[in-house]
Amino acid sequence: MEKIRRVSVLGAGLMGAGIAQVAAQAGLEVELMDTEGKFLEKGMSAIRQNLGRMVKKEKITQTEADVSASKIKCTTNLIEAVKNVDVVIEAIPEILLLKKETFKAIDKECPPHVIFASNTSGLSITEMASATKRADRFIGMHFMNPVPVMQLVEIVRGYSTNKETVKTIEELSLRMGKSPIVVSDTPGFATSRFIAVLMNEAVHAFAEGIASAEDIDKSMRLGMNHPMGPLELADFVGLDTLLYVMENLHREYGDPKYRPPLLLRQMVRAGHLGRKTGKGFYNYSA
Ligand SMILES: NC(=O)c1ccc[n+]([C@@H]2O[C@H](COP(=O)([O-])OP(=O)(O)OC[C@H]3O[C@@H](n4cnc5c(N)ncnc54)[C@H](O)[C@@H]3O)[C@@H](O)[C@H]2O)c1
Repeated sequence: MEKIRRVSVLGAGLMGAGIAQVAAQAGLEVELMDTEGKFLEKGMSAIRQNLGRMVKKEKITQTEADVSASKIKCTTNLIEAVKNVDVVIEAIPEILLLKKETFKAIDKECPPHVIFASNTSGLSITEMASATKRADRFIGMHFMNPVPVMQLVEIVRGYSTNKETVKTIEELSLRMGKSPIVVSDTPGFATSRFIAVLMNEAVHAFAEGIASAEDIDKSMRLGMNHPMGPLELADFVGLDTLLYVMENLHREYGDPKYRPPLLLRQMVRAGHLGRKTGKGFYNYSA
């Protein structure tokens, strides 16, 4: 396959903005798409802030930051966003039907060589691929949060993903400054399966009243040397995303150990999604 030059990133939220940033910093032309202008503005403002921080720390120059930001074009038009790209990286909410509908819609618009990659935390790549006619060029490209900082990309091989696609996405990950691992398509893959269980268990423990949120987090930070406690991490990831991940693990494995706590559901229903809404296990509005 020709060298990848242009990518489309669908969703300008926590992950999409980070992916667009590292892609632009790798010299790729980026089409960033979201459903409304205000989400794109929020994503671009996060990107500019991140690049600004890197300039302050003298990791990049102001010119490099400006060049990277200028490589990102924003649009609310899905078809425009994917028309002329080599790879589409999807980072929309963790809802299987939404992802399948989106991939089905763009499958008709993209030439056959275009690779579709999903940043899903653990939904089936094989099932998403079944909504398209390019299951061999469909793959998981799971970045970690925060994308500009975290080294890993978990590459997920669907049932029909071909070797060339895996190789191309491995090379793309390296170009974006990341270290890839390749895993097979199982619910939660490696990363999410392990870490989501810890966060879920911490929410259960908090709901049972075993300790305050601060002390639950302290137990893992000071007792196990984790950089963040599991409830802080849940707020950082987004409680809606954690709930979707747990529901998927529970549904797919049918094992009660993955059951999400009622408290998590209630917090999501109340719109307390963690940092992104200003309130979760902690208050961020002050
Ligand atoms: N949050 C994390 O720590 C994390 C880590 C790794 C992977 N992921 C995965 O990344 C994906 C995105 O998660 P996030 O945390 O960035 O969520 P988010 O809620 O921050 O962002 C999602 C964005 O998608 C947009 N969107 C919704 N429907 C859309 C559509 N039809 N077309 C285009 N854009 C649409 C929303 O407006 C929003 O801006 C999910 O699959 C999630 O599981 C999340």
